[in-house]
Amino acid sequence: MKALVLAGGSGSRLRPITHTSAKQLLPVANKPVLFYGLEAIRDAGISDVGIVVGDTAAAIEAAVGDGRAFGLDVTYIRQDAPRGLAHAVLITRDFLGDDDFVMYLGDNFIVGGISPLVDEFRSGRPDAQIMLTTVPDPRQFGVAELDDAGEVVGLEEKPPHPKSDLALVGVYIFTPDVHEAVRHLAPSGRGELEITEALQWLIDNGHKVRSTTISGYWKDTGNVADMLEVNRIVLEGVEARQQGVVDDASEFIGRVVIESGAWVSRSRIVGPAIIGAGTRVERSYIGPFTSVAQDCVIVDSEIEYSIIMRGASVRGVRRIEASLIGHDVEVTPAPRVPKAHRLVLGDHSKVQISS
Ligand code: TTP
Repeated sequence: MKALVLAGGSGSRLRPITHTSAKQLLPVANKPVLFYGLEAIRDAGISDVGIVVGDTAAAIEAAVGDGRAFGLDVTYIRQDAPRGLAHAVLITRDFLGDDDFVMYLGDNFIVGGISPLVDEFRSGRPDAQIMLTTVPDPRQFGVAELDDAGEVVGLEEKPPHPKSDLALVGVYIFTPDVHEAVRHLAPSGRGELEITEALQWLIDNGHKVRSTTISGYWKDTGNVADMLEVNRIVLEGVEARQQGVVDDASEFIGRVVIESGAWVSRSRIVGPAIIGAGTRVERSYIGPFTSVAQDCVIVDSEIEYSIIMRGASVRGVRRIEASLIGHDVEVTPAPRVPKAHRLVLGDHSKVQISS
């Protein structure tokens, strides 16, 4: 069995971060979200992995390399534009050959990994296996309809009137039958080849599509609120570890990770939280569910429930909450007079000012 990891896409919901960064490389507890997926694939016993890449190919390839660091053998396949999940299957036909394969969306996060799904597929080998979870508002997802026996009878992409509350999780397993299905597709209303339509084609043509409903945690990290939530979940599981330099005037409560080369002085950190290598925290408060990446500077500030990416600096700011701050961003207070906000914001930035 092979794996196909989708790491292209446009990432429009995470702009402006995705103007300059691949969304699959956004850090969750200081590790790119994509790496959790690659580890789940390896843990399911799969080593032959194709990664579909788009405009951010260079960054993904630099981060993952040939895959050896993960125990994987990685092949990159270029997609000229985000033409849909089924388009990714279409263009990877040669790589996939006649093998069964797991398709994994590179910005998805599944607690508990994919081994149970892979084991279930192997036990009965249906023509395709999908993973479902109940969601409060299915209208923004691919939605499955099951019959009384639990068999999948229909699938719809972002339906205005969903027939169930069962959303498709971003992991699918296919047999080579899917190649015929994707060849029959035409672009949908939003201009993409939809994987839900490929699954529907399989059902309509007498193929068996089985589903597993997971109770574990799943998130598509496509927007800021979901990124922060996944970060919270992963930080919930960290063990306290202090490898950096910490002074006596600092206080740590709960599970706090200080990576080697970090430097903390006269600060209070309430875990779970992680402070990356080479980062300096001085006279500051870092609250629960905060990840500060490598080489940041946090001085005279308060930050809680946030992700701060590599090289950012926050000085004299009280207080930052529920925020995603990109690489090398600088946040400082304005001079007292005149009392005004001074902003240099990239395209599609979002700022909420408390005044
Ligand atoms: P999505 O989150 O559905 O799409 P997107 O990346 O275009 O994001 P947005 O909706 O915010 O504009 O994609 C799921 C995953 O699949 C993600 O890792 C990107 C990847 N992908 C591809 O590799 N090729 C594609 O054609 C599409 C649509 C997505």
